[in-house]
Order: sequence, then C-alpha cells, then structure tokens
Amino acid sequence: MKRIAIFASGSGSNAENIAKYFANSTETEVSLIVANNPEAYVLKRAEKLGIESLIVRKPEFMAADNLIKELHKRKIDFIVLAGFLLLVPQKLIDAYPGRIVNIHPALLPKHGGKGMYGDRVHEAVVAAGDKESGITIHLIDANYDKGVTYFQAKCPVYPTDTPHDVAQKVHILEYEHFPRVIDEIVKTI
Ligand code: GAR
Repeated sequence: MKRIAIFASGSGSNAENIAKYFANSTETEVSLIVANNPEAYVLKRAEKLGIESLIVRKPEFMAADNLIKELHKRKIDFIVLAGFLLLVPQKLIDAYPGRIVNIHPALLPKHGGKGMYGDRVHEAVVAAGDKESGITIHLIDANYDKGVTYFQAKCPVYPTDTPHDVAQKVHILEYEHFPRVIDEIVKTI
C-alpha cells in the first residue's frame, strides 16, 4: 500500500475529492491530512472522512524536522499539495525528492508565483483578458510554482466571465483530473 499525505490550507474540497477517489483502492490510501491553519475547514472534512490530521503551524513547517519525523513515522510515500499556501522548505523536498506534487489553478508559467493562490489567480486571469485558463499539476521544487509540469488541462474564458465563473470551471477540471493524475504518478514510485 502506498501512503499519501495531503497538505491543505483552507476549504479542502480537492483533498476530500482525492480521499474519496482512493477510498476503495487496494494500492493507495490517503493516510494523513496536514493543515497549517487550525481553522481550516479541511480539518472538519478529515474528521468526517475518518482520516488522521495534523496541524503544523508555519514555523514548525519551515523548520521541517519534526514534520518529516511525523511523515516517516506514518510511512508516508507521497505528498500532495491541494490548496496549500506555504513554500515547501528544501529539507522536506530533500526528504521526498520527486514525490511532492502541487496543483495550481491556472496555466503555468502564467499567473504563478508568491501570493498567487485561489481567487487572486482567477482575478489575474480575467484582468489580463486571457481567453483560456485551466490547471497545472507539477512536481515541486524550492521556488513557488516552478517545478516540472506533469499535466495541464484547459477551459475557455469568455469576455463576460467573472473570476467566480473562472474558479468554477477550474474546480471542475481539478475534480476531474487531479485524483487520476496522482494515481498515475504514484504508480511510478
Ligand atoms: C484550488 O483551486 C487549488 O488549485 C488552489 O487553491 C484551491 C483550493 O481549493 N491552489 C493554489 O492556488 C496554490 N497556489 P480547495 O481547498 O477547495 O481544494
């Protein structure tokens, strides 16, 4: 059994969707949900799903040693960032080389980088007058949104679309593709 930890900072609708996708798998399970914010709704979702959760605040996350110990203790093989907003420290990348994947709600390299998350990304897409947006699933390295891209999917953006409209289209793509792509990557490790 391959064991996944999902890191999330807020609502966690992707985390829940991924957990449900693997719920009946005999090869892969979501074993742990990590949140950096004790108020994050993802913690309630974890409880309902019966998945263990950990709260790791920013200083502890950045120091990484204790978190790596907790991940090793639970034999975590792979890490998924699903709406997780802290920069991953090099120590954690070194502990899980090629085994940390992130989803970004736009077509990188456009609209990425520090501070570009959630609705801010969709606002930037509309402000730029882009004709399309989408999702990027990429392996992470020490820079925000700069790792090797593994998968992209696109949706149209119409001149009348609001950031909220774009967010909805992007969420549909996330729910459709992210679990499947994780499954594909995890099978190779
Ligand atoms: C998702 O759209 C994800 O792509 C985005 O945050 C949202 C989290 O939603 N991630 C980023 O912006 C990372 N830079 P969720 O908590 O409902 O899964």
